[in-house]
Amino acid sequence: MANSGREVRTFADLEALSQAAAESIVAIARESVQARGRFSIALAGGNTPKRTYELLGERHRDAIDWSRWQVLFGDERFVPKDDKRSNYRMARDALLAGTPIPVDNVHPIPTDTPTVGDAADAYDRTLRHVLADATQLAAIDLVLLGVGPDGHTASLFPGSPVLREVFRTVAAVHVTAAQIPQRITLTFPVLNAAARVIFLVAGAEKAKIVKSVLSDQAMVPAGMIRPTEGELIWLADRAAAALHPIGGAR
Ligand code: 6PG
Repeated sequence: MANSGREVRTFADLEALSQAAAESIVAIARESVQARGRFSIALAGGNTPKRTYELLGERHRDAIDWSRWQVLFGDERFVPKDDKRSNYRMARDALLAGTPIPVDNVHPIPTDTPTVGDAADAYDRTLRHVLADATQLAAIDLVLLGVGPDGHTASLFPGSPVLREVFRTVAAVHVTAAQIPQRITLTFPVLNAAARVIFLVAGAEKAKIVKSVLSDQAMVPAGMIRPTEGELIWLADRAAAALHPIGGAR
């Protein structure tokens, strides 16, 4: 564990990274269920986590008590659920369709609302309902995140006013620079309250941002993920970690 309070593990390639990520998720889920009778996870979007999701269903299906899972999403593009750009659709096809997680335990971010703002408000209510604890909002047991070459994570983009959000748990985002400008994202207060955050990063196009974030050079959204009490783990493949001091692979 580096003095930055985050653990960085590197792997030969995306397949090795995905296998390790799936094993970590199974272990964290088991521990959470033993401790609290349930496991809440916020899924990451994009492409990198897809293989991890597939492996959970393919290799760990019988080792998991899926009935205890509460599945949330870290962010979503404001597109219909069956749109190929939908994070929900990716997770459905890679994980949810092949595993017996009760439908009522799967909480996609709504995208059929009149506005993206309505979607954020609706998901704020969902989150408060799912994470409701006696007195406060329980921490999400595990948040999975990716990082873009610009340092964005979830749908928290550099320069976005949402980076300064301190009250809302969920925010609507308008990112003109992004391919899909309208998005909904969990905010830093919720992400940094998580018990554990795991970044999944792969590919040479991420090497520059990984180096700058892990050497605290760049104040970009991915570098602002610092769980208050929770653990922070970066799982990177050799290509993404190539410029980082411990770029060696397992
Ligand atoms: C999204 C994601 C986003 C993603 C990064 C990395 O909706 O786009 O939540 O934050 O994690 O863009 O994406 P890749 O894994 O596809 O490189």
